Amino acid sequence: MNQAGNPIGVFDSGVGGISVLQTMIRLLPREHFIYYGDTANAPYGTKKTEEVIDCVRKVTDSLLARNIKALVIACNTATGAAAYTLRKELTIPVIGMEPALKPASEIRKNGEILVLATPLTLHQEKFNLLMEKYGEGAVRVPCTGLMELVEQENWEGAEAYLREVFALYDLRKVDAVVLGCTHYVFLKDRIRKMLPEHIIITEGNEGTARQLKRVLARGHLLQEAGEGRVELETSGSSDDLGKMKRLLERGISE
Ligand code: DGL
Repeated sequence: MNQAGNPIGVFDSGVGGISVLQTMIRLLPREHFIYYGDTANAPYGTKKTEEVIDCVRKVTDSLLARNIKALVIACNTATGAAAYTLRKELTIPVIGMEPALKPASEIRKNGEILVLATPLTLHQEKFNLLMEKYGEGAVRVPCTGLMELVEQENWEGAEAYLREVFALYDLRKVDAVVLGCTHYVFLKDRIRKMLPEHIIITEGNEGTARQLKRVLARGHLLQEAGEGRVELETSGSSDDLGKMKRLLERGISE
Protein backbone atom coordinates (compact mmCIF):
# COMPACT_ATOMS: atom_id res chain seq x y z
CA MET A 1 0.00 0.00 0.00
CA ASN A 2 1.20 3.52 -0.82
CA GLN A 3 2.29 5.17 2.41
CA ALA A 4 2.83 8.70 1.05
CA GLY A 5 -0.35 9.89 2.82
CA ASN A 6 0.86 8.69 6.22
CA PRO A 7 2.26 11.14 8.80
CA ILE A 8 5.89 11.86 9.64
CA GLY A 9 6.83 11.37 13.29
CA VAL A 10 9.16 13.96 14.84
CA PHE A 11 10.39 14.06 18.41
CA ASP A 12 12.70 15.72 20.90
CA SER A 13 13.02 15.84 24.66
CA GLY A 14 10.89 18.98 24.66
CA VAL A 15 10.43 22.10 22.55
CA GLY A 16 13.85 22.07 20.83
CA GLY A 17 12.69 20.00 17.88
CA ILE A 18 9.95 22.54 17.20
CA SER A 19 12.71 24.66 15.64
CA VAL A 20 13.40 21.78 13.23
CA LEU A 21 9.68 21.22 12.66
CA GLN A 22 9.30 24.82 11.49
CA THR A 23 11.97 24.31 8.84
CA MET A 24 10.43 21.01 7.74
CA ILE A 25 6.96 22.57 7.40
CA ARG A 26 8.45 25.32 5.23
CA LEU A 27 10.18 22.78 3.00
CA LEU A 28 7.40 20.17 2.96
CA PRO A 29 4.13 22.10 3.33
CA ARG A 30 1.91 19.22 2.18
CA GLU A 31 3.03 16.76 4.83
CA HIS A 32 1.22 15.70 7.98
CA PHE A 33 3.61 15.96 10.95
CA ILE A 34 3.09 14.50 14.40
CA TYR A 35 5.49 16.15 16.85
CA TYR A 36 6.15 14.51 20.22
CA GLY A 37 7.87 16.47 22.98
CA ASP A 38 9.08 14.08 25.69
CA THR A 39 8.96 16.83 28.30
CA ALA A 40 8.23 14.47 31.20
CA ASN A 41 11.65 12.91 30.65
CA ALA A 42 13.63 16.06 29.81
CA PRO A 43 16.47 16.78 29.78
CA TYR A 44 18.06 13.96 27.81
CA GLY A 45 21.46 15.63 27.73
CA THR A 46 22.43 14.87 31.31
CA LYS A 47 21.19 11.25 31.27
CA LYS A 48 23.13 8.09 30.50
CA THR A 49 22.95 6.71 26.95
CA GLU A 50 20.89 3.67 28.07
CA GLU A 51 18.36 5.90 29.84
CA VAL A 52 17.92 8.00 26.70
CA ILE A 53 17.45 4.85 24.61
CA ASP A 54 14.67 3.76 27.00
CA CYS A 55 12.91 7.12 26.68
CA VAL A 56 13.28 7.10 22.90
CA ARG A 57 11.81 3.60 22.61
CA LYS A 58 8.63 4.71 24.39
CA VAL A 59 8.28 7.81 22.23
CA THR A 60 8.94 5.83 19.07
CA ASP A 61 6.37 3.17 20.01
CA SER A 62 3.67 5.78 20.42
CA LEU A 63 4.56 7.37 17.05
CA LEU A 64 4.69 4.00 15.29
CA ALA A 65 1.18 3.30 16.56
CA ARG A 66 0.12 6.30 14.44
CA ASN A 67 1.42 4.61 11.28
CA ILE A 68 4.22 7.05 10.55
CA LYS A 69 6.06 6.69 7.24
CA ALA A 70 9.33 8.19 8.54
CA LEU A 71 10.84 9.20 11.87
CA VAL A 72 12.83 12.39 12.47
CA ILE A 73 14.94 12.54 15.61
CA ALA A 74 14.89 16.32 16.03
CA CYS A 75 17.47 16.10 18.80
CA ASN A 76 21.24 15.81 18.60
CA THR A 77 21.44 14.04 21.95
CA ALA A 78 18.86 11.37 21.11
CA THR A 79 20.40 10.82 17.68
CA GLY A 80 23.81 10.13 19.18
CA ALA A 81 22.31 7.82 21.78
CA ALA A 82 19.65 5.94 19.82
CA ALA A 83 19.77 6.42 16.02
CA TYR A 84 21.91 3.35 15.48
CA THR A 85 19.55 1.14 17.51
CA LEU A 86 16.43 2.57 15.88
CA ARG A 87 17.81 2.11 12.36
CA LYS A 88 18.54 -1.53 13.16
CA GLU A 89 15.08 -2.16 14.57
CA LEU A 90 12.73 -0.10 12.39
CA THR A 91 11.69 -0.64 8.80
CA ILE A 92 10.80 3.02 8.12
CA PRO A 93 13.47 5.66 7.34
CA VAL A 94 15.05 7.28 10.43
CA ILE A 95 16.49 10.77 9.97
CA GLY A 96 18.81 12.03 12.70
CA MET A 97 20.85 15.12 13.54
CA GLU A 98 24.41 15.92 14.50
CA PRO A 99 26.12 19.17 15.49
CA ALA A 100 26.87 21.13 12.29
CA LEU A 101 30.64 20.84 12.70
CA LYS A 102 31.32 19.94 9.06
CA PRO A 103 29.98 23.24 7.62
CA ALA A 104 31.79 25.11 10.41
CA SER A 105 35.06 23.38 9.52
CA GLU A 106 34.58 24.40 5.88
CA ILE A 107 34.39 28.11 6.70
CA ARG A 108 37.06 27.97 9.44
CA LYS A 109 40.11 30.09 8.80
CA ASN A 110 42.66 29.41 11.50
CA GLY A 111 40.59 30.02 14.55
CA GLU A 112 38.51 28.04 16.99
CA ILE A 113 35.09 26.49 16.54
CA LEU A 114 32.95 26.50 19.68
CA VAL A 115 30.58 23.54 19.69
CA LEU A 116 27.69 24.22 22.07
CA ALA A 117 25.74 21.06 22.92
CA THR A 118 24.56 18.89 25.79
CA PRO A 119 27.15 16.99 27.85
CA LEU A 120 25.87 13.66 26.50
CA THR A 121 26.14 14.76 22.84
CA LEU A 122 29.70 15.93 23.37
CA HIS A 123 30.82 12.69 25.03
CA GLN A 124 29.25 10.25 22.65
CA GLU A 125 31.23 8.02 20.31
CA LYS A 126 29.32 9.52 17.36
CA PHE A 127 30.63 12.97 18.23
CA ASN A 128 34.18 11.69 18.73
CA LEU A 129 34.08 10.37 15.17
CA LEU A 130 32.82 13.71 13.90
CA MET A 131 35.68 15.42 15.78
CA GLU A 132 38.22 13.11 14.17
CA LYS A 133 37.02 14.16 10.72
CA TYR A 134 36.17 17.84 11.12
CA GLY A 135 37.32 18.79 14.59
CA GLU A 136 40.46 20.81 13.92
CA GLY A 137 40.25 23.87 16.16
CA ALA A 138 36.96 22.68 17.65
CA VAL A 139 36.28 23.11 21.37
CA ARG A 140 33.57 21.19 23.23
CA VAL A 141 31.33 23.59 25.18
CA PRO A 142 28.81 21.62 27.26
CA CYS A 143 25.86 23.84 28.15
CA THR A 144 24.25 22.04 31.08
CA GLY A 145 21.08 23.86 32.10
CA LEU A 146 20.63 25.91 28.93
CA MET A 147 17.86 23.75 27.47
CA GLU A 148 15.91 24.20 30.70
CA LEU A 149 16.00 27.99 30.27
CA VAL A 150 14.61 27.58 26.74
CA GLU A 151 11.92 25.22 28.08
CA GLN A 152 10.99 27.94 30.59
CA GLU A 153 10.98 30.52 27.76
CA ASN A 154 13.41 32.43 29.96
CA TRP A 155 15.12 34.25 27.09
CA GLU A 156 16.89 36.82 29.30
CA GLY A 157 18.19 34.05 31.53
CA ALA A 158 19.44 32.13 28.51
CA GLU A 159 21.16 35.23 27.18
CA ALA A 160 22.87 35.85 30.52
CA TYR A 161 23.97 32.18 30.60
CA LEU A 162 25.50 32.47 27.14
CA ARG A 163 27.24 35.76 27.92
CA GLU A 164 29.02 33.97 30.75
CA VAL A 165 29.96 31.11 28.43
CA PHE A 166 31.32 33.37 25.67
CA ALA A 167 33.26 35.44 28.24
CA LEU A 168 35.49 32.39 28.77
CA TYR A 169 36.85 32.62 25.20
CA ASP A 170 38.83 35.17 23.23
CA LEU A 171 36.18 35.72 20.57
CA ARG A 172 38.68 37.40 18.22
CA LYS A 173 40.16 33.93 17.80
CA VAL A 174 36.85 32.19 17.17
CA ASP A 175 35.70 31.58 13.56
CA ALA A 176 32.45 29.70 14.18
CA VAL A 177 29.90 28.75 16.81
CA VAL A 178 27.94 25.52 16.31
CA LEU A 179 24.47 25.28 17.86
CA GLY A 180 24.60 21.55 18.54
CA CYS A 181 21.28 21.27 20.35
CA THR A 182 17.93 22.03 18.76
CA HIS A 183 16.83 24.05 21.79
CA TYR A 184 19.63 26.55 21.20
CA VAL A 185 18.33 27.38 17.71
CA PHE A 186 15.55 29.37 19.40
CA LEU A 187 18.34 31.63 20.69
CA LYS A 188 20.04 32.12 17.33
CA ASP A 189 19.06 35.78 16.85
CA ARG A 190 20.15 36.69 20.35
CA ILE A 191 23.42 34.82 19.92
CA ARG A 192 23.99 36.62 16.60
CA LYS A 193 23.74 39.96 18.40
CA MET A 194 26.06 38.77 21.18
CA LEU A 195 28.91 37.72 18.91
CA PRO A 196 31.32 39.74 16.76
CA GLU A 197 30.25 39.84 13.12
CA HIS A 198 33.09 37.70 11.80
CA ILE A 199 31.83 34.63 13.69
CA ILE A 200 29.65 32.29 11.61
CA ILE A 201 26.85 30.41 13.39
CA THR A 202 25.94 26.94 12.11
CA GLU A 203 23.10 24.59 13.03
CA GLY A 204 21.64 21.46 11.48
CA ASN A 205 17.96 22.33 11.01
CA GLU A 206 17.97 23.18 7.31
CA GLY A 207 20.21 20.19 6.51
CA THR A 208 17.90 17.83 8.41
CA ALA A 209 14.80 19.10 6.61
CA ARG A 210 16.52 18.69 3.23
CA GLN A 211 17.66 15.20 4.17
CA LEU A 212 14.08 14.29 5.10
CA LYS A 213 12.86 15.56 1.71
CA ARG A 214 15.56 13.56 -0.11
CA VAL A 215 14.78 10.37 1.79
CA LEU A 216 11.02 10.71 1.20
CA ALA A 217 11.55 11.39 -2.50
CA ARG A 218 13.84 8.39 -2.83
CA GLY A 219 11.27 6.11 -1.18
CA HIS A 220 8.37 7.59 -3.21
CA LEU A 221 6.93 8.75 0.09
CA LEU A 222 6.41 12.45 -0.67
CA GLN A 223 2.90 13.79 -0.21
CA GLU A 224 2.28 15.46 -3.55
CA ALA A 225 -1.16 17.03 -3.04
CA GLY A 226 -3.42 18.51 -0.40
CA GLU A 227 -2.72 20.67 2.63
CA GLY A 228 -0.31 19.71 5.33
CA ARG A 229 -1.09 19.67 9.04
CA VAL A 230 0.65 19.39 12.38
CA GLU A 231 -0.34 17.58 15.55
CA LEU A 232 1.49 18.24 18.80
CA GLU A 233 1.79 15.64 21.56
CA THR A 234 3.70 15.53 24.82
CA SER A 235 4.45 13.25 27.74
CA GLY A 236 4.28 16.42 29.85
CA SER A 237 1.41 18.66 30.96
CA SER A 238 -1.15 20.79 29.14
CA ASP A 239 1.10 23.77 29.94
CA ASP A 240 3.87 22.05 28.00
CA LEU A 241 1.53 21.59 25.07
CA GLY A 242 0.62 25.28 25.21
CA LYS A 243 4.29 26.20 25.17
CA MET A 244 4.90 23.96 22.14
CA LYS A 245 2.03 25.66 20.27
CA ARG A 246 3.30 29.10 21.24
CA LEU A 247 6.81 28.42 20.01
CA LEU A 248 5.59 26.86 16.78
CA GLU A 249 3.46 29.91 16.04
CA ARG A 250 6.06 32.40 17.13
CA GLY A 251 8.86 31.07 14.97
CA ILE A 252 12.53 30.43 15.58
CA SER A 253 13.34 33.98 16.73
CA GLU A 254 11.69 34.74 20.03
N1 DGL B 1 17.20 19.30 22.09
C1 DGL B 1 18.12 18.29 22.40
C2 DGL B 1 19.35 18.26 21.51
O1 DGL B 1 19.28 18.62 20.38
C3 DGL B 1 18.42 17.89 23.81
C4 DGL B 1 18.18 18.73 24.96
C5 DGL B 1 18.14 17.85 26.22
O2 DGL B 1 17.17 17.15 26.40
O3 DGL B 1 19.10 17.88 26.99
O4 DGL B 1 20.39 17.86 21.87
